[in-house]
Amino acid sequence: MGVFVTFEGIEGSGKTTQIKKAGDYLKEKGVPFVVTGEPGGTPVGNELRKILLDRTALSLSGRTELLLFAADRAQHIKEVIAPALQRGEIVLCDRFSDATIAYQGYGRKQDIKSVREICDFASQSLVPDMTFLFDISADQGLDRVTDRARRAGHVPLEDRFEREHLKFHEIIRSGYLALAEEDSDRFKVIDASRDVAEVHREVCMHLEGLIKR
Ligand code: TMP
Repeated sequence: MGVFVTFEGIEGSGKTTQIKKAGDYLKEKGVPFVVTGEPGGTPVGNELRKILLDRTALSLSGRTELLLFAADRAQHIKEVIAPALQRGEIVLCDRFSDATIAYQGYGRKQDIKSVREICDFASQSLVPDMTFLFDISADQGLDRVTDRARRAGHVPLEDRFEREHLKFHEIIRSGYLALAEEDSDRFKVIDASRDVAEVHREVCMHLEGLIKR
């Protein structure tokens, strides 16, 4: 059986940059791994991602949104995560069930117990071996997203989640921190306000421990 590692955080926390760098590190070490993420990660998931992030999809109900994230995850596990774990690889996954609890539970105020049950059903109770929470203040995170979009020539704060108000992102951040406190063995809370190289060093230190284990 492989090792399942997830990367979580609010928008602009730098987790996507860090997952790529973590992959480079494992490659250097010669450890077999896959880098994947949600929503997306499969052909069906990519279709769901378009619906979920479409800023014109304002009529999407809270329950529909929750179930679409769950559907994306069920497919992702079947097609990508479970086979890689069975091959004995390390799976680095950009967001997983904790994102659903933080965003749909805390953020969208869906009943947390129901959200957990739906996540459990979708994931067949698969729980990551380690979860990195890249912690940053909501205003700093959103500033980064805006800067990144401007540099890439895109419209800033474009998708349905990025467009949410600051308070929404602050609630998500507190939700994530509450989850980390509940499961402090699994979560590694990383101060993501520091520069990329420093954050990467801390991630590698934890990965090193996992590889040895
Ligand atoms: P990404 O920007 O990390 O690719 O994620 C896309 C958005 O989807 C992000 O705003 C967080 C949101 N999201 C949820 O609301 N619930 C979930 O379960 C997942 C996986 C993502």
